[in-house]
Amino acid sequence: MCGIIAYIGNEPALPRLMEGLRRMEYRGYDSAGVALLDSPSLWVRKDVGRVEALASRVKDGPTAVVGIAHTRWATHGGITERNAHPHTDQGTRIAVVHNGIVENMSSLKRMLAAEGVQFRSETDTEVIPHLIRRHYKGDPVQAVIDTVGMLRGTYGIAVLFADHPDVLVAARNGSPLVVGLGDGETIVASDPQAIIAHTRRVIYLQDREVVTITRDGANVCKLDGSEVGRQPELIDQDYELAELQGFPHFMLKEIHEQSESIERAIRGRLQLDEGNAKLGGLEMSPRDLRHIARIVNIGCGTSYHAGLVASMAIEDLARVPARSEIASEFRHRNPIIPPDALFFAISQSGETLDTLGAVQEVMIKGGHVMGVINVVGSTIARACGKGVYVYSGPEIAVASTKAFTSQVTALLVFTLMLARTRNLSLEEGQRVARALSAVPGRVREYLEAPGPIQKAAEIIAKARYVQFLGRGYSYPVALEGALKLKEIAYIPSEGYPAGEMKHGPIAMLEKGTPVVLVAPRGSQRDKAISNLKEVQARGAFTILVHSAGDDELADMADVSIAVPETEEFVSPLLTVLPLQLIAYEVAKLLDRDIDKPRNLAKSVTVE
Ligand code: AGP
Repeated sequence: MCGIIAYIGNEPALPRLMEGLRRMEYRGYDSAGVALLDSPSLWVRKDVGRVEALASRVKDGPTAVVGIAHTRWATHGGITERNAHPHTDQGTRIAVVHNGIVENMSSLKRMLAAEGVQFRSETDTEVIPHLIRRHYKGDPVQAVIDTVGMLRGTYGIAVLFADHPDVLVAARNGSPLVVGLGDGETIVASDPQAIIAHTRRVIYLQDREVVTITRDGANVCKLDGSEVGRQPELIDQDYELAELQGFPHFMLKEIHEQSESIERAIRGRLQLDEGNAKLGGLEMSPRDLRHIARIVNIGCGTSYHAGLVASMAIEDLARVPARSEIASEFRHRNPIIPPDALFFAISQSGETLDTLGAVQEVMIKGGHVMGVINVVGSTIARACGKGVYVYSGPEIAVASTKAFTSQVTALLVFTLMLARTRNLSLEEGQRVARALSAVPGRVREYLEAPGPIQKAAEIIAKARYVQFLGRGYSYPVALEGALKLKEIAYIPSEGYPAGEMKHGPIAMLEKGTPVVLVAPRGSQRDKAISNLKEVQARGAFTILVHSAGDDELADMADVSIAVPETEEFVSPLLTVLPLQLIAYEVAKLLDRDIDKPRNLAKSVTVE
């Protein structure tokens, strides 16, 4: 959940490190710090708050050419300068930045304290520089190897030694690290975003590997010291450096990118004439697909919601039993893993620890699991080996938007393939493929004229509580709308199946409580409208998302937002858009930090 970066080269390190931190700030943003090798000593500065606070504090820092830096999401110890990284040994000769959790920190702390170490922070990380000092006998790489051998838990670390100005050492287990190989400079970072402005030649470090970096390159070894000899790979030109491009926030930019990102999720995959689709990354023939007896979609947060939509479509169109699971629950309850089931691990970042844990649980029990992932080369994508990339492009705002619609789209493409191996006819397959291929155009059409979002936002911004309701395919959309509003506007809100509302949540309604009902045309529309009447009878202020042309509904609510009409199974790709925009506009009215909401981080690499 933190971002780490290390630089060694011929240019001043500080500007490079600060630029890298800014690009990775979405990974964690409660404090930041930097350590430079200002020979013969280490120069360390930290600050609580955003990277910009640190930037103004270090602007006159030394012009050193080697350094490490960190942006933190607190796990152990409060948000204080002392707890910010880098952490150092007692003599400030070794500095460490760390992403992950040292699970055996208590026993290590006790051991080190008995040896006379005085701790200056409440963090788990601080044991690492003290352990490296303990093992250091002149060889920095061996000291890091010996240290990580004592750690339990997860780590991505970068280590700077005052006594070794020409070397940095990094290591990983469970927290991502990528090494960028430039011309006379080498960068290690948690995320390629911090690297690609300088080089696209990279080495992805694997778990339990240590890398020694110099300005001329990198040398990867295992924990037994044996060389790995991994060849660098090139990051695809399609992978862009995320820039605001004139938008005030990444979230708004990403909402508006959805017609293109959905297009990328279907491009080259749909076969309109055959009424079918092909997902090469699955490496499954129709015969293999025919043998799948059930599907289980696993994810967290928004990715879980995407799985809920997909599960409904799979049962609806392919008539294959499907369900969705919250990864953090699934992995810890000794789940049953039927050998004829296909599990999908859905994750934007590909780094979510609970989803990774679920993947490992499926694998340990001999199950069949594939990834539905956005970030190419991420940990979950590699762990699964096979799967589907959703290609939504870098998603920087902490609140996920375009990843959701891309995940749903990719899983609907899979649904079509699966359904064609069962009882979906050629004509029906063509209808499904046409409905999917029309979505990018419909999304563009809606975003060009999104309707009375502002009016809805002004009411919701004053509310103490908001209820989101939907039936069938619109139920996960209601969950997603409530999650977005909570995340970025901090307004208590909950999503409910509209039919379940009268079994409890209706008690929350009082005169003027905003209720957002998602009711596009389809099998559940009329029943959803009955629910609208029920909440109106209790004085709720109603905001209705409905299909364009459904004139009967246009005047039925206090605010009516029309989305282009689609087939029911693709409706979430349209109905979620106004809910994303409402959350954005409410957060803007309330002057929230939209791209970096409080307490959150983009990639959740802790349990
Ligand atoms: C979405 O807005 C959230 N930030 C969060 O729920 C997120 O979807 C969840 O943490 C899962 O992340 P992943 O897709 O990267 O695995």
